[in-house]
Amino acid sequence: MANQLTIHSGQPLIGQCRVPGDKSISHRAVIFGSIAEGRTRIRNFLNGHDCFATVAVMRALGVRIDERSATELVVNGVGLNGLQEPEDVLDCANSGTTIRLMTGLLAGQPFASVLTGSEQIRRRPMGRIATPLRQMGARIVGRQDGKLAPLSIAPADLQAIDYAMPVASAQVKSCVLLAGLYAHGLTIVREPGPARDHTERMLMAMGAPIEVMGSTVHGERPQRPLRPLDITVPGDISSAAFLLAAGALTPGSNLTITDVGINPTRIGIVDALAEMGAAIQYKSRTEQGGEPTANLVITTSELRGTTFGGEQIVTMIDELPTLAVVATQAAGRTIIRDAGELRVKEVDRIEATVTELKKLGARIVGTEDGFVIDGPTPLYGAVVDSHGDHRLAMALTVAALIAKGSTTIYNAHVTADSFPGFEATLRALGAVIQEIG
Ligand code: S3P
Repeated sequence: MANQLTIHSGQPLIGQCRVPGDKSISHRAVIFGSIAEGRTRIRNFLNGHDCFATVAVMRALGVRIDERSATELVVNGVGLNGLQEPEDVLDCANSGTTIRLMTGLLAGQPFASVLTGSEQIRRRPMGRIATPLRQMGARIVGRQDGKLAPLSIAPADLQAIDYAMPVASAQVKSCVLLAGLYAHGLTIVREPGPARDHTERMLMAMGAPIEVMGSTVHGERPQRPLRPLDITVPGDISSAAFLLAAGALTPGSNLTITDVGINPTRIGIVDALAEMGAAIQYKSRTEQGGEPTANLVITTSELRGTTFGGEQIVTMIDELPTLAVVATQAAGRTIIRDAGELRVKEVDRIEATVTELKKLGARIVGTEDGFVIDGPTPLYGAVVDSHGDHRLAMALTVAALIAKGSTTIYNAHVTADSFPGFEATLRALGAVIQEIG
């Protein structure tokens, strides 16, 4: 894995490619498969650092997980009540999904556990999960009154709650629903916006008593064991987004990305690019593991500035740094608002995106909850930094592909957190990228 990338612009991106399996679905397949009864087989598993943090945590809880190949796992589920007390602190590395979902799963177990992670993880807000879990009776202690990891969880008998989430977050929703599997009574989660629904889809497919009514989800303790799954994880639309953006921006491009998940709670970026004028098409729609998929085709397009906000934001929250890059090439002003959540991602993605894109010459201003970007603005190669954030590293690579001359990105190894093979995929499509270190 390269610690430093140098990208030379000027080549069109042409051809067909795949992206690795969806990160959110890969985490869930391992966690839910662990508490099913029997063997769950996961193909096209995302073999990135974040998902392997989940694998390591489940192994530490006594679950045998066999690696059949780099992207195929067999999880030997131990049943709802079969997890074992871990011998040591559970390390969630850099993965927010791991720590937030696992806290929900562990809150109702009859043993103690401690969850921690990287320096980045230990800075990210955990009060959003500790608060509803404590309302359920969970005994969670963390730094700053449970707002920061490490989180220490003592055995507890949980009661269901009716919880209206203050922010639209799939991690919070999933955390509460997982705790609800071990609680007495009916757990109700009310969402302020359409956060990704992979948890609901997968748990329902496994036979869990989960019911979705518009923006309200009900869940309760299963009366029967969860059924193991045989699932092929769809390609991650959040990874495809970098290629879509690069395809729209790089002159002369024509790209097809095959087998991408197009769950309606995830396609905000496709809609946004189309609203800006991108020539983007869905082809060969089908379904994989209870999730809709399609091939996505994009060609270079003339783009116009557009305003984005409201409910669309949660459906493309991870893609907003990339959308900001796209907006630098759109005619007129693009405004992205209602995206304050970006400030509590791996890094403050508003500040980091603005800082780095300005080095390339972008006209971008950060606001409390988003960006204002004026375009089209020529970008010029420069030296930039990922701030240790995988999505920023890849968004900057997209910017570098259209910046005149060459651009060097420091701390680029983090691309493998969610998109192992990112550089090789771009190279196969025609990009000129050198990796160092
Ligand atoms: C995720 C939910 C989102 C997203 C993250 C993955 C998930 O976070 O940003 O990359 O798998 O549930 P929030 O739930 O904090 O919005």
